[in-house]
Amino acid sequence: MHLDGGVTLAPGDHRHVVETAKEDPPMTASANLPRETAFAVDTSAITFGSGATREVGAAVAGFGAKRVLVVTDPRLAKGETVGIVLDALGASGIEPEVFDRVRVEPTDASFGEAIAVATAGRFDGYVAVGGGSAIDTAKAANLYATYPADLLAYVNPPIGEGRPVPGPLKPLVAIPTTAGTGSETTGVAIFDLVARGAKTGIAHRRLRPSLGIVDPENTRSLPPMVAACAGLDVLCHALESYTALPYSDRPAPERPELRPAYQGANPVSDIWAERAIAMAAAFLVRAVTDPADDEARAQMLLAATYAGIGFGNAGVHLPHGMSYPVSGLARGFVPAGYPDDHPIVPHGMSVILPAPAVFRFTAPADPARHLHAAALLGADTRGAAPKDAGDLLANQIVSIMRQTGMPNGLSAVGIGPEDVDRLVAGTVPQHRVTKLSPRPASEADLRVLFLAAMTCW
Ligand SMILES: NC(=O)c1ccc[n+]([C@@H]2O[C@H](COP(=O)([O-])OP(=O)(O)OC[C@H]3O[C@@H](n4cnc5c(N)ncnc54)[C@H](O)[C@@H]3O)[C@@H](O)[C@H]2O)c1
Repeated sequence: MHLDGGVTLAPGDHRHVVETAKEDPPMTASANLPRETAFAVDTSAITFGSGATREVGAAVAGFGAKRVLVVTDPRLAKGETVGIVLDALGASGIEPEVFDRVRVEPTDASFGEAIAVATAGRFDGYVAVGGGSAIDTAKAANLYATYPADLLAYVNPPIGEGRPVPGPLKPLVAIPTTAGTGSETTGVAIFDLVARGAKTGIAHRRLRPSLGIVDPENTRSLPPMVAACAGLDVLCHALESYTALPYSDRPAPERPELRPAYQGANPVSDIWAERAIAMAAAFLVRAVTDPADDEARAQMLLAATYAGIGFGNAGVHLPHGMSYPVSGLARGFVPAGYPDDHPIVPHGMSVILPAPAVFRFTAPADPARHLHAAALLGADTRGAAPKDAGDLLANQIVSIMRQTGMPNGLSAVGIGPEDVDRLVAGTVPQHRVTKLSPRPASEADLRVLFLAAMTCW
């Protein structure tokens, strides 16, 4: 119903003020608190196109930077994209230093290593080349080198202090090589806080890259399993932001600057999310099963950016919240295509494994949205009753999981019912995302959802 509100665009302002439907009951906001009445729309500038990577030199020069830290991971450091970036920077008179020790799925320690290099180097700009791991590491390096603080100072509460980023950061150009986290569009940096056994993150608008250069040439070398995991992350970003609690059901912030980056579903994020769901339906399986399918690869990279703009403003909910302790519990599982130096349940895999169970659970909160999402994924929803919405959506997700080679549930990645207490304990503090579930999930609900996610079909 929140879609029915009238949208007024204030002249010269990027904020949209929306009159909310008065009869909507609050879902998680206390009835005594005033509810949110506005939402903000922010994204990075984006350049999309084949060969656009070569524009990085001119872009960095345009931001006035002269010495930049190029942040990448050990595999990509030897690849073609980093070579093109270094050539283009040199041709524009920029002096680059390469940091190539990004950990695939960063930890507090690996963020710390990049922060130390960034702090010592006093760079006036950053270029991230890689997947979410490299882009998030560059965001953290930029933040802590610019405004030094303990790592937990800017980390989301209740795990960290949630201190807002104090001022503008140095320019950061993000060049994604996966399709993808959408990190080139978001003000979020995620890492594994090893002592807590779960991922957490930093979220603030000022963390957003100044520019994302989104070039389909850079995903040509993606191993199929990385393409599958990253593509399923795209799908979940879009599905979760589309089905998230409406922004108008959150309590209003005390001051506009305290409005969270993840605001809840809103009419603008819906547009990006719906389009990204349809694109993933058309192109994800093709991009994974045939890396030579240029159209599918390019469309999935574009879908990643679309989904990033959607969830970067609306947020994600339970599949992401539940994924963080799953990643933290990785032991003995190393999927094909990923480095074998540490066990890993890749981010996109850890998000998609609970997704079918979650959407069956959340569908009663808004059957129409879940049915529409199922239809965008190709389900025949003609004549479907509201009670069918969860199964219809979950079945479409399972079909894509099977076609992209996903393991059949948490039990297939070495996680069992004996782990459920730890998984629930790791999900509960993920307020930033769990509070956006359209249907509140108690600890007992989470336990049922993790048990249901042990097998997906
Ligand atoms: N900041 C955000 O908004 C956001 C959103 C979603 C996920 N994330 C985070 O991003 C991380 C996952 O990132 P990801 O899925 O993009 O993967 P990744 O960066 O972890 O990379 C996975 C593997 O693929 C390799 N790889 C990447 N691109 C390649 C290419 N073109 N050719 C060959 N190999 C390539 C990498 O070297 C690495 O070994 C997680 O830590 C996750 O939590 C962040």
